Amino acid sequence: MATKRVVVAIPAPPAVSYEVIIGSGVLNELGARLESLLKPRRVTVITNDIVWEISGTRLTDSLNKAAIDFDLVSIPDGEANKTMETAGIILTALADCGAGRTDPVIALGGGVIGDVAGFAAAIYMRGVPFINVPTTLLAMADSSIGGKTAIDLPAGKNLAGAFHQPGLVISDLDLLTTLPDKELAAGRAEMLKAAMLQGDEFLAAWRTGISDALGGDLGVTEDLLERSVRYKAGVVAADALDMTGRRAFLNYGHTLGHALETLLGYGQLGHGAAVSIGMAFAARLSENAGLGVTGLARATEELLIEADLPDRPPALKAADIIAIMELDKKNLAAEITFVLLRDFGRPAIQTVPRALILSTLEEFMNG
Ligand code: NAD
Ligand code: GLY
Repeated sequence: MATKRVVVAIPAPPAVSYEVIIGSGVLNELGARLESLLKPRRVTVITNDIVWEISGTRLTDSLNKAAIDFDLVSIPDGEANKTMETAGIILTALADCGAGRTDPVIALGGGVIGDVAGFAAAIYMRGVPFINVPTTLLAMADSSIGGKTAIDLPAGKNLAGAFHQPGLVISDLDLLTTLPDKELAAGRAEMLKAAMLQGDEFLAAWRTGISDALGGDLGVTEDLLERSVRYKAGVVAADALDMTGRRAFLNYGHTLGHALETLLGYGQLGHGAAVSIGMAFAARLSENAGLGVTGLARATEELLIEADLPDRPPALKAADIIAIMELDKKNLAAEITFVLLRDFGRPAIQTVPRALILSTLEEFMNG
């Protein structure tokens, strides 16, 4: 399979443009690409022990070949560690290894590593170059692109963060071979989200290809991944700072999803599973609010089931879920704002009365 290249081109201000390289074996090109892009004196690699075990030798060889020195910082694994404390560990390590203003930080890992390492890169010396090497399907399809960096607070996910675009994203498909099924499912959830938001050709390609992708056809997975990346690149280019509402569409399924993750404790329910359940709920809410076309909820459930993704929530109290949603960072004043769908490919942002959310949640929890 040929290497794919997608450009994220953010017009202004400030204008930023970077490449997303997708393909088998592209991690081997990291050193050479870094050398031609930034000519770094040295770099700092942020990863965890699991990812380093899988990809450390290849990353080391690639940097060595380009004669780029690096320091390694391994942080604890998992969403429960996407915290200010971990950001502090990275910042201290950057200072201890003498990282300067032009020395890039490389995130080697899934979305958790990318978000927290990106956050540290955004604030260390008021911002140093950041390179993303995503190693999960979710991170390749979504979190590595667009420059949102974050840590979680006890009150909610991603409640502190900064916009800091990467200078380069290297997505090596070979790394997906070690990824557990649960994590592949998480990536499918974010890709399906993009397909439902874009509709049209992407959703048609999804419907045609998903059973082959599930059967292990890497070519189809690569095609769906590239479509997701192109979709996100377009959205980010149009609304990089999440100001016009366009980028907010990417939060489809996330209002309930984030509430479930927070309520169950970070790391208990995967982000992808939470978003899948959130999309099933958002489709039902779209219909109940009189916005979504009849049959949207059913069609959404079918797409989720076909992709082997969850469409039902764990047993929780609807009132507890609503209390967390009210804290969600997307909400203005006391109203609860949702990304809803008129139909696939036709998202809308709408505030929904609390009573309708509650009744839809109760209906949703009970089947
Ligand atoms: P993750 O980073 O926790 O990775 C999942 C697990 O897979 C971890 O245990 C990790 O160590 C392991 N792993 C990573 N690569 C592996 C590989 N190649 N082989 C085997 N195991 C591997 O989770 P994730 O799903 O990648 O990311 C979820 C995070 O991304 C959440 O915090 C979410 O909020 C964030 N996110 C951010 C954005 C954004 O725009 N910044 C978008 C979507 C999601
Ligand atoms: N995942 C949401 C965003 O990038 O805006």
